[in-house]
Amino acid sequence: MSEQTDAGAVEQPATFAFTEETRKAAEAVCAKYPADRQDSAVMPLLDLAQRQNDGWLPRAAMDYVAEYLDMPAIQVYEVATFYTMYNLKPVGKHHVQVCTNLPCWLRGSDAVMKACSKNLGVGKGQTTEDGMFTLSEVECLGACVNAPMMQIGDDYYEDLDADSTARILDELKAGDTPKTGSQAGRTSSEPAGGLTSLTDLGSSAKGGDA
Ligand code: FES
Repeated sequence: MSEQTDAGAVEQPATFAFTEETRKAAEAVCAKYPADRQDSAVMPLLDLAQRQNDGWLPRAAMDYVAEYLDMPAIQVYEVATFYTMYNLKPVGKHHVQVCTNLPCWLRGSDAVMKACSKNLGVGKGQTTEDGMFTLSEVECLGACVNAPMMQIGDDYYEDLDADSTARILDELKAGDTPKTGSQAGRTSSEPAGGLTSLTDLGSSAKGGDA
């Protein structure tokens, strides 16, 4: 369980309900599942509830989702406390999640985490005093091929080092929108040293079905 899923002594709202907009989104999600398998929608519905509630899931929201899907509340708690994507206490406007799993660690995630702590002035699981940034350490986010990486909000920033990490955070502080994806100049996950195959698609195409 991450620091962000440890509810601790958080002040909990007494009630929670989907807004009209969230309810419509929830109905669209539920429509993807058979009538007798509606609890399969628990993860996207928890995500919708979290998005509606400024990025965190109070107990009332989990109870609401349990009732909405007609499933035992304990099963919803089990899901919400297992995955780090659900925050059981409030987070800052920008939730910075640094992956420190093996591939990212081998490629320098220690330096990324250190740069975040230094730039933001907070440690793991902490939120800056102005409420703008929360720093979390997470397990693999599925972008190992461009390690090390971090997720901020819904965006991935990859091929990081201390300098690019600090630059991204500075841009967010300034209200700018940093470039997402690789920060080392490569496209997607192509080889770091440039393409070594499929470098002449024009002549390959001419070859046709030969
Ligand atoms: S180990 Fe970091 S994204 Fe997979």
